[in-house]
Amino acid sequence: MTAQVPDPEPAADPVTAQAARRRTFAVISHPDAGKSTLTEALALHGGAIAEAGHVKAKSGRRGVVSDWQEMERARGISISSAALQFEYRDHVVNLLDTPGHADFSEDTYRVLAAVDCAVMLVDAAKGMERQTMKLFDVCAYRGLPVITVINKWDRPGQEALALMDEIESRTGMVPTPLTWPVGIAGDFRGVLDRRTGDYVRFSRTAGGATRAPQDRLDAGTAAEREGDVWHTAVEEVALLEASGAVHDPETFAAGASTPVLFASAVLNFGVDQLLDVLLASAPAPSARRAADGHARPVGAPFSGQVFKVQAGMDRAHRDRMAFVRVCSGHFERGMAVVNSRTGRSFSTKYAQQVFGSDRSGAEEAWPGDVVGLVNASSLHVGDTLYADEPVTFPPIPAFAPEHFVVARARDVSRYKQFQRGMAELDSEGVVQVLRSDRRGDQSPVLAAVGPMQFDVVTHRMEHEFHAPVILEPLGYSVARRTIPTDVEVLDAQRNVEVLWRIDGTPLAVFSDAWRLSAVQRDHPRLVLEPLAADRSA
Ligand code: G4P
Repeated sequence: MTAQVPDPEPAADPVTAQAARRRTFAVISHPDAGKSTLTEALALHGGAIAEAGHVKAKSGRRGVVSDWQEMERARGISISSAALQFEYRDHVVNLLDTPGHADFSEDTYRVLAAVDCAVMLVDAAKGMERQTMKLFDVCAYRGLPVITVINKWDRPGQEALALMDEIESRTGMVPTPLTWPVGIAGDFRGVLDRRTGDYVRFSRTAGGATRAPQDRLDAGTAAEREGDVWHTAVEEVALLEASGAVHDPETFAAGASTPVLFASAVLNFGVDQLLDVLLASAPAPSARRAADGHARPVGAPFSGQVFKVQAGMDRAHRDRMAFVRVCSGHFERGMAVVNSRTGRSFSTKYAQQVFGSDRSGAEEAWPGDVVGLVNASSLHVGDTLYADEPVTFPPIPAFAPEHFVVARARDVSRYKQFQRGMAELDSEGVVQVLRSDRRGDQSPVLAAVGPMQFDVVTHRMEHEFHAPVILEPLGYSVARRTIPTDVEVLDAQRNVEVLWRIDGTPLAVFSDAWRLSAVQRDHPRLVLEPLAADRSA
């Protein structure tokens, strides 16, 4: 699919030209579908690493680059997010990592707010899993185009056509395969390139540690070589044509269709094709709408949005890093920028580009790039930074928490440290810290999207803030925003409690959706608004 990638459009100014060269995306999937493996494969193809086994520490693999926290090592999972940048065929690829654990966390949503496209990995044997569905929903909510990769085709799995049906019926998006597998799942020989009708034949390498050689053969040669297996692929592709499953840039951009590719991340099969599709079809950074409704073009002076704040990445320097997605303009290290929330200036002297924990100074960055700002104690998730022309981007929506615990300091004499830790974890967005009138300031309620966030709290409170905590689960699972005048009625209900956000917003929490419906039925006038992006509402 080499010829398909157009040269970046010649642009009037250097910023717009740099933006046009960039593709900023995240790989998302249900755990174990192969996200870390594909990340490595992409890094290998982009020349960012010499051999697979570098990015994530998996059992039996070598490097431990993104392994920032002890806990991650202990569990063999990634809790932190890394951004990986490499050049590929005159383009710059920014791959933002998302947490890979079984829990759903706010981090994933935030990363999706910072990318222009998502690559959804689907396990060929398992098809659409719980988190696959949730993630498709989030992409639809954010209007993000999605490229779907059916992974693990080297292993027995479902039939390719059945997988297409499943994607369509479960997501409502039309799957438009760009490549089609030659050989059933478990007998992955190569792919039929639907654009040219050619056969791209893959060869294995030892342990999948290096790029897999591939040959491009015309249809006649493919038929001679592969016989029935090739004919089956051709027949299935004819069925796709007949059903209208043809790539269409407009419906892709609008989230109505999803291009599909077949791959084996562990063998590095199909990875070139994915990069080519990203370059040819994924959107480049473009104008971003500000809170006042005006769009800030990429060529405007520098602006960026903090999408993640992370502490404790460098044990030697106990620092706090804010990850900023550049939205417009040219970022240069040391430039003066302003935080639009506080009106204060922020020094960018210690800007870094981030690849695992191997940090190198970022001298400059362009729209679509991610910059890590160190010593960022004044920056919060969602903050806008700008130079010259003021701008504020809309906040990144907080997703509705579904898990709640009461926190207490194990040792009351460490209450000060306890409070400091709670404030820090709240401002980083690890959990939402809520005040409860019933329980008092000593016992805040912590709310999270996924329960693993509470393990992070326990660990960091003990090791970083030296204030070990006791966390006690509360039996709530649904939260709604309410108004101060409704608090009294709500607080009097059974299995309902009102909690306060730091910004003074009251949240009513309910044991479950049935309880919420019952309260709504009995008190139809109460204000009970779903929280932003609560798709289950
Ligand atoms: P995740 O980040 O999405 O959680 O998945 P990860 O890459 O860790 O992959 C999960 C498991 O699936 C790993 O096996 C990995 O090797 C395997 N895997 C990933 N892609 C493919 C593929 O294309 N084909 C096959 N056959 N397997 C794949 P593991 O046994 O958990 O770890 P490891 O010891 O093999 O590293």
